[in-house]
Amino acid sequence: MLRFELGDGRAMRLLDASDAEELFVLIDANRKHLARWMPFVGQTRSVADSLVFVRSARRQLAENRGLQMAVLADEQIIGVAGFHAIDWPRRSTSIGYWLAQAHQGAGTMTLAVRALIGHAFDAWELCRVEIRAGVHNSRSRAIPERLGFREEGILRGAERIEDRVIDHVIYAVTAVDWRAMSALGDRDPARA
Ligand SMILES: CC(C)(COP(=O)(O)OP(=O)(O)OC[C@H]1O[C@@H](n2cnc3c(N)ncnc32)[C@H](O)[C@@H]1OP(=O)(O)O)[C@@H](O)C(=O)NCCC(=O)NCCS
Repeated sequence: MLRFELGDGRAMRLLDASDAEELFVLIDANRKHLARWMPFVGQTRSVADSLVFVRSARRQLAENRGLQMAVLADEQIIGVAGFHAIDWPRRSTSIGYWLAQAHQGAGTMTLAVRALIGHAFDAWELCRVEIRAGVHNSRSRAIPERLGFREEGILRGAERIEDRVIDHVIYAVTAVDWRAMSALGDRDPARA
């Protein structure tokens, strides 16, 4: 079972069907916090909806199209981070994430995304990792910026969230850049 240790009792592991209830309770308790930026929240109304998500994540993993991981603090789920898909011909992927409101501000998601990037470049040998964030989602934007991603441009009208249509800013890092930054040790302050 894939698992990444993030330090200070924090870790990531693959999501499993038995997580559906815990996941739903967490989403439900963070509905207002998450719904501002994540359209899936409005469609998550019951444990059954979270089970559909977890099962589709397991299918995604089995079909080698990416993976979704629970982010844990003391083994309790506090968020989710994963890959939306893998473009194998272009050896490219993108990462998405969310964290319960009370667990923000500790660098956990920066560590989690750093672990996912390592997996994409080292285990899958991909060439490029993207992160897209709402242009006004400053906390989300800070993650790729902290990790040394380069801002590549704006996608106008990229996402509909409830009654808003928002623009996205797109960030990317290449395997070459990531390895160069690792060698220099000049990446984010969350480095262990
Ligand atoms: C996006 C989201 C995951 C960011 O959470 P976050 O807590 O800001 O990110 P991190 O866990 O990496 O923590 C970074 C914060 O911890 C602080 N921090 C403390 N120790 C740190 C460390 N060792 N390393 C890095 N940051 C650290 C940083 O200064 C930063 O705090 P600040 O924003 O007050 O300056 C969260 O806001 C969220 O879930 N939002 C709603 C859903 C969402 O928008 N998802 C993304 C859609 S694109």
